[in-house]
Amino acid sequence: MKNIAIFASGDGSNAQNIIDFFKSSYSGVEVRLIISNNPMANVLNRAKKAGIPSLIVDRNTFYNSSQTAERLMAENIDLIVLAGFLWKVPENLIKSFPDKIINIHPALLPKFGGKGMFGMNVHKAVVEAKEKQSGISIHFVNEDYDEGRLISQHTCEIAESDTPEIVAGKIHQLEMDYFPKAIFDLLN
Ligand code: GAR
Repeated sequence: MKNIAIFASGDGSNAQNIIDFFKSSYSGVEVRLIISNNPMANVLNRAKKAGIPSLIVDRNTFYNSSQTAERLMAENIDLIVLAGFLWKVPENLIKSFPDKIINIHPALLPKFGGKGMFGMNVHKAVVEAKEKQSGISIHFVNEDYDEGRLISQHTCEIAESDTPEIVAGKIHQLEMDYFPKAIFDLLN
């Protein structure tokens, strides 16, 4: 059995999709822990409904102690999955879990990445730049935002008339289709 922890700050539709994908014990993967920086995040309701333990982290503990890493190690976490997690991952966590932290970004990195490039901001920037394509990037996490080694990318076409909301829908579909499988492949 492989154990994963999901870090999420918001709605958690990706977290939900991952939970559903690995629900059966035959999958060989268990979502052991959900971590959020946001006590109001809907992902915490999703964790509760699924019977998965969750942990809310505050800024001071997250950045100035090794508590989070210790909890993750105590849970025998094999892979940390960032699914809409807004905070930068502290160096101590990256060092404790080398090549074991991945992120999903809702654009084709290295374009439209970096600080502030989150959720709808990304899709607005893509539409403003009149891109013909966008997509998702699944990548390892290092000390710099959105700059870790790429694992896979999946693309979608963008029509001239597409609004940021339409692009968001296309990206959401790609995330639903490909993210859990990418996690499964990495663990196997
Ligand atoms: C997802 O689209 C994810 O790619 C994006 O946040 C959304 C979270 O949605 N992540 C980033 O923008 C990271 N820079 P969710 O909470 O419904 O899964």
